[in-house]
Amino acid sequence: MKHKEILELLNKMTIEEKIGQMVQIAGDIFLSEDKNAVLTGPLKDLHLHNEMVYSIGSVLNVIGARNVRQVQKEYLSKSRLKIPLLFMDDIINGYKIAFPIPIAQGCSWNIKVIKEMAEISAMESSIAGANVNFSPMVDLSRDARWGRVMESIGGEDPLLGEIYAKTIVETYQGKKLTEVGKIASCVKHIAAYGAVEAGRDYNTVDMSEREFRQYYLPAYKSAIEAGAEMLMTSFNILNGIPATVNTWLIQEIIRKELGFKGIIISDYGAIEETIAHGYSANGKEAAKNAINAGVDIDMMSSIYANYLKELCIENQEIENKVNESVLRILSLKNKLGLFENPYGNINEEKEKTYLMNPSNLEKAKKLTQETFVLLKNKHHILPINKDKKIAFIGPYVNNIGITGSWSMFSDRSQNHTLLDSFQEKLGNNIAYAKGSEILRQEEINKILSAEGLPMVHIENEAQKEQEMIASAVEISKRADIILLALGEHYKQTGEACSRSDIALPENQIQLINELYKLSKPMILILFNGRPLQLNTIEEKLDSILEVWFPGTTGAKAITEIILGEENPSGKLTMSFPQNVGQCPVYYNHYNTGRPHHDNFRYVSRYQDIPTESFYPFGYGLSYCDFKYTELHLNKHKISENETITVMVKIENQSNYAGYEVVQLYIQDVYGSVVRPVKELKAFKKEYFKPHEIKYVKFDISIDMLKFWNDKLDYVAEPGQFKVFVGGDSVKVLEDKFEFLLD
Ligand code: GLC
Repeated sequence: MKHKEILELLNKMTIEEKIGQMVQIAGDIFLSEDKNAVLTGPLKDLHLHNEMVYSIGSVLNVIGARNVRQVQKEYLSKSRLKIPLLFMDDIINGYKIAFPIPIAQGCSWNIKVIKEMAEISAMESSIAGANVNFSPMVDLSRDARWGRVMESIGGEDPLLGEIYAKTIVETYQGKKLTEVGKIASCVKHIAAYGAVEAGRDYNTVDMSEREFRQYYLPAYKSAIEAGAEMLMTSFNILNGIPATVNTWLIQEIIRKELGFKGIIISDYGAIEETIAHGYSANGKEAAKNAINAGVDIDMMSSIYANYLKELCIENQEIENKVNESVLRILSLKNKLGLFENPYGNINEEKEKTYLMNPSNLEKAKKLTQETFVLLKNKHHILPINKDKKIAFIGPYVNNIGITGSWSMFSDRSQNHTLLDSFQEKLGNNIAYAKGSEILRQEEINKILSAEGLPMVHIENEAQKEQEMIASAVEISKRADIILLALGEHYKQTGEACSRSDIALPENQIQLINELYKLSKPMILILFNGRPLQLNTIEEKLDSILEVWFPGTTGAKAITEIILGEENPSGKLTMSFPQNVGQCPVYYNHYNTGRPHHDNFRYVSRYQDIPTESFYPFGYGLSYCDFKYTELHLNKHKISENETITVMVKIENQSNYAGYEVVQLYIQDVYGSVVRPVKELKAFKKEYFKPHEIKYVKFDISIDMLKFWNDKLDYVAEPGQFKVFVGGDSVKVLEDKFEFLLD
């Protein structure tokens, strides 16, 4: 439709129909036979009546070509103005093919990997009827206690967040949303949700505007510049005001400064939650606060449905804002071509051939392998020689539950297990024992009780635990090598999964301790959604491969890496803490006036743990041995509009071919505000043949030196700078240069 036709449509709408467009509910109501049961059941607070249901503007988490077609058809048959429904879904890391969780994807440091995963996800979900994807989540995340770090595509670094946000938004949306395989991106969660105090979900966020602009805003800005169609507000308060009704955030920053013209949707019930926050006195206040701040769609709360009309009657200004919101919503529907074709790219036939197709699964496996991070590999114990006798131990060996907490649409029955993948390669001469459950029942009961589910009691759990360990020890005695598959339960990570203890579960640690007594090489394959505390077990392990929750093809991907058919190349995007007491820990920290150094007490440190992280940002090993030498700058003084060319020699001193992520960091040694000890400014993922030597180049521009100063100007200041180049943020070659004003 032309814009003027949209305006004409808007003018035909009643106020109820306009407000309906601004309400989003879970779509199962449309799939249920008895609408009233749902309206008086889970949706009773919405006080919706049957007719209103057919003026709702969008639904969440209805997907599947047949479902979407059925819902849209029924909806349109009862919609007076035939305004199509929008279907929005959480395709966080894939639809039917579950890709690795986003924190894992970010560890690939490979834009091609991110892009290809996003491409397949968008195609799978768009032919299944999704119009909008509540992804990417680009919240900068520094605190491993927070369960949602698993969703953070950029981890603790603003530059990675910017690059990945742009890549995913552009890949989802393409040039035109009507193209097959394209989907609108709803980027989340504005803003600074990753900074929740103490890593406790939904908790307070309070920071200076400078800190916000330096670290948390860049990824959202990058997504907006990439053309994101929607933004989702976050649950937290930001400097005393809930983000969802924070006029400074939404109007001053997002709308005016960043020029965002798309739709702003609240998170699930977040408008109503402004009452619990103690900001809105009641529902009507919450509606007024949200519409005045600029929220266009109320996700799953009763506020807009029940109070906006009254506010419009009282105040024409509010009705004008409603008209603006509805115009944005109708415009997105128009961009998706839904007025001409309400069924968008739905394609039942293509669903049958494209979803989970073998070539995409093969591609997914290759992409997944780049997300694994080799954390330790003493004496090059990995890759395993195929003639070794393996004892395969752990609750993740014969387990298909390796797809992460947002993979509710994926078809887990298609997941291979590590056991069958290894048996496929090595035949049945693999000894296997579960060795332990993932969690003891008391831990599982904590999860169950939080979900209002009945507790479960296991008879003689302790004895069963000992028996499982004993059988694992027994089979390991006859093995050359012990291969462990351990980790978090997938229900321990994700939304509302903050943890005050981020060590491996006690029962799994006991298993490691018992097996360690056999003095055999032990390799750990680690499944988790956050940096874990490994300091009590690391010394007992000869090798650690971090695989996160690797998704549908994870088992096969891991098998090929462990057996040396592929070479790991991932690098951490979040630092691993020494222990939970060190959280939050991140590489781009300030120096303090008393930086830690040995043999002096009065420095910034903990008495009981080292000051540095356990595994640093940017860290990851390979089967190759990369040697960095000859860091060279073509000049050591730079003025405006000049660049410095940095070159480094890297030698692959091994017989393996493989990738290395070469990283460039800069430190602004002193400034009008203190500056981090280092900041990632560029990286290149380079392929090396065995024994290949490469000279890798970077250009440093003045732009890379800019930061937010105490006057909130984004500036580069003259002075001394240090340059660091390496395969992580710690083991680096160093040089320096000076920036001089002309
Ligand atoms: C959840 C999450 C958000 C998700 C939304 C819809 O509470 O915070 O990330 O997209 O609700 O499921």
